[in-house]
Amino acid sequence: MPSESEIQDIHIHNRMSMIDRKILIMSGKGGVGKSTVTVNLANALLAMGKTVGILDTDIHGPNIPKMLGCEDAILQGSEGGDSIIPVSPREGLKVVSVSFALGDPDQAIVWRGPMKLAVIKQFLADVQWGTLDYLLIDSPPGTGDEQLAVCQNVPDLTGAIIVTTPQQVAILDAKKSVSFAQQLDLKILGVVENMSYLICPDCGKHIPVFGKDGGKNLCKEQDLEFLGEIPMEIGLQQGEDLGVNWIEKNPDSESAKAFKAIAEHLHGTVEFKHSPYVPKEGCSPSSCASCTADCSSRKS
Ligand SMILES: Nc1ncnc2c1ncn2[C@@H]1O[C@H](COP(=O)(O)OP(=O)(O)OP(=O)(O)O)[C@@H](O)[C@H]1O
Ligand SMILES: [Mg+2]
Repeated sequence: MPSESEIQDIHIHNRMSMIDRKILIMSGKGGVGKSTVTVNLANALLAMGKTVGILDTDIHGPNIPKMLGCEDAILQGSEGGDSIIPVSPREGLKVVSVSFALGDPDQAIVWRGPMKLAVIKQFLADVQWGTLDYLLIDSPPGTGDEQLAVCQNVPDLTGAIIVTTPQQVAILDAKKSVSFAQQLDLKILGVVENMSYLICPDCGKHIPVFGKDGGKNLCKEQDLEFLGEIPMEIGLQQGEDLGVNWIEKNPDSESAKAFKAIAEHLHGTVEFKHSPYVPKEGCSPSSCASCTADCSSRKS
């Protein structure tokens, strides 16, 4: 019989093989806008008629549910209890976050790496993601347990989007994300420069609060694709606290247009693949009767 861990790997493979593009959103520095980029890209892709999942792997500071206005939702088990039904705050969108499993939103999670790995694997294996065009995986800042768990457990991970501000300290940390991706053979789909300038709500003037062109220069230096710059807009920030769909509510704002352009570019350029399950050592053909993987060692 395959071990529990082998069965979980097969479940992960089966679930993930139904999702075309699986994209990790990461940054070296905290607070640069990973969750904002995740949510707004998701909304931009939904507006294009795509189906999207969001996996919030920020265990210690899960902000995605609040930004989507579904922070009171709780994860439900399926009938029979063998899988988890994701939260669906709007049509075409499925969301999973550890905060949906917590009673108290103010409660701190004190978990070491193995517990984080276990919960991320469970979300990959047991959630009824179904068929999706995209799975956007939001992550905490840095290159730690959560990013590693995603890279080592999502089969055919399409690539990473690195988010930074133009500020030099953010760029310095973004280079660590680049190095992480290179070490793990993870394709970098490109860099999004967020908070590129503040649009003055009174006069509309562009104020480069965090400096200029840091993201563009990073891309030149590291030979990466520059996906676009997102301005700071007060309404966008306020809308996130209220769970407003900014792309739908303010489609003509500069930031919404920038997010839509990035989503369209990604959809037009990102290639994806689905590989057959590769059997693990000890995963013997004799256990095929209980296995659902599309695997080369499978008995007919
Ligand atoms: N372009 C923007 N315009 C206005 N406010 C923004 C913009 N991008 C992000 N913000 C605000 O800045 C704050 C940080 O953004 P966000 O939470 O998306 O960053 P993060 O990188 O996910 O942070 P963390 O590292 O804590 O996960 C939030 O309050 C968000 O609403
Ligand atoms: Mg975040």
